[in-house]
Amino acid sequence: MEEGDLDQVAAMEREAFPTLWPPTTYRRELKNKMAEYSVCVRDDEFVTSQPQPGKKGLLGFLGRRNKPEAPVQRQLLVGFVGLWYMAGEAHIVSIAVREAYKRKGLGEFLLIGSIEMATHRDCQVVTLEARVSNDPAIALYRKYGFNEVGLRRRYYSDNGEDAIIMTTDKLTSDEYDAFFENRVNAFDERYGETVREYLA
Ligand SMILES: CC(C)(COP(=O)(O)OP(=O)(O)OC[C@H]1O[C@@H](n2cnc3c(N)ncnc32)[C@H](O)[C@@H]1OP(=O)(O)O)[C@@H](O)C(=O)NCCC(=O)NCCS
Repeated sequence: MEEGDLDQVAAMEREAFPTLWPPTTYRRELKNKMAEYSVCVRDDEFVTSQPQPGKKGLLGFLGRRNKPEAPVQRQLLVGFVGLWYMAGEAHIVSIAVREAYKRKGLGEFLLIGSIEMATHRDCQVVTLEARVSNDPAIALYRKYGFNEVGLRRRYYSDNGEDAIIMTTDKLTSDEYDAFFENRVNAFDERYGETVREYLA
């Protein structure tokens, strides 16, 4: 994820999490050294994107007045995922796929990428919270070996819903490694081989 993606990411977040308030400040998150955000990009669909305003304050204001930023054509983003790295754990803080692109394997694609990035960062496990009612997400996480390890009561302030905490087994264990490899092979067989590119 990069600055030019932020209007599309904000729109995807609004669609996927309509009650989330305040919205995530992705511009700040992109500077967070403990976080990593990735996007899923269509290479054959484009949108007109309005660059997001930069820094507030007098300089930013004058800069924008003198040089209004023109809309640009950008590739369509269809999903994103955010990870926070803490104490040897990778925490999935957000994952979403555009409504019109759901059930095509993209959530799975983003989750595979997240687990690979966590392994690359020497994390022991990947963990997350999900609404107890979020059957699609819970099914996705179960498919990748996440176990329910706890419950946070009334975690979501919009409706007081509980969150279940789900965590993988140790990523470096032979069992999880073999399980994950199987899952990725099955994914590639079903959807065709994918390219997951990690920027340094
Ligand atoms: C959860 C989410 C990311 C899944 O993305 P997706 O691209 O539609 O999912 P995929 O097509 O990759 O499906 C992968 C697996 O997830 C599960 N799954 C996804 N959607 C499902 C649904 N509607 N019902 C049941 N299982 C579902 C299945 O196990 C599926 O495997 P299968 O195809 O072998 O059945 C998507 O539903 C989403 O963006 N939801 C809104 C945001 C959200 O709730 N994020 C999670 C916060 S914890």
